[in-house]
Amino acid sequence: MPPDSPLPHLASPTGGLPSSVRWAQLMLADRLRPGDVVVDATMGNGHDTLFLSQCVSPGGQVYAFDVQAAALEETRKRVPLEMSTLLHAGHEKMAQNLPLELHGKIAAIMFNLGYLPGSDKSCITRTETTLAALAQAIELLKPGGILTLAVYPGHEGGAEESREIAKWAAGLDSRRFEVQHLRPVNRSAAPPELWTLWKTAPMKK
Ligand SMILES: C[S@@+](CC[C@H](N)C(=O)[O-])C[C@H]1O[C@@H](n2cnc3c(N)ncnc32)[C@H](O)[C@@H]1O
Repeated sequence: MPPDSPLPHLASPTGGLPSSVRWAQLMLADRLRPGDVVVDATMGNGHDTLFLSQCVSPGGQVYAFDVQAAALEETRKRVPLEMSTLLHAGHEKMAQNLPLELHGKIAAIMFNLGYLPGSDKSCITRTETTLAALAQAIELLKPGGILTLAVYPGHEGGAEESREIAKWAAGLDSRRFEVQHLRPVNRSAAPPELWTLWKTAPMKK
């Protein structure tokens, strides 16, 4: 590719392969529609909440979760508030925080695990609460809905979290869910990985 040619659509900012989060965004942008209701399970600084709100605008709604008040403060500055419900709650309480009428109707749920960049690295996602959230998330999704999960095995506790997610994913009923796993294979450090899950839906005629 000549140095001054425009970046391909499926590229990182340096022209290389997309990162895990970028792959997730590409998949979500392709499938989400205006008016959809979606969940950001790990709000952080609000970049993913903003991205999701753009995907479902106009008329959609993003429910976003984080355990840190600082995450809500940052996100509030960034996102259209009329389309976002920012919840100061752990994603393991996702089901009880979403209106009952939305259960089974969520078009996408995005997880970006680990810690909030630029803040306290001890406040990370934990295996037990992540698995509890995932169990709820797959039931909250609508048929045809999609879940993306960026996992960082390199941080403290991340390797265990990643192993347990792999076990959980392998045990899912293939009649109900399609699951894919994407990870760089020729890097020595533990690079970020992406899991993508699609809740099966009857084919449209
Ligand atoms: C990698 S950051 C997310 C980045 C974010 N999506 C963004 O766009 O900036 C992970 C976030 O998960 C949050 N977190 C940790 N445990 C959580 C839990 N049980 N429920 C919800 N969020 C949690 C952390 O506070 C942190 O903000």
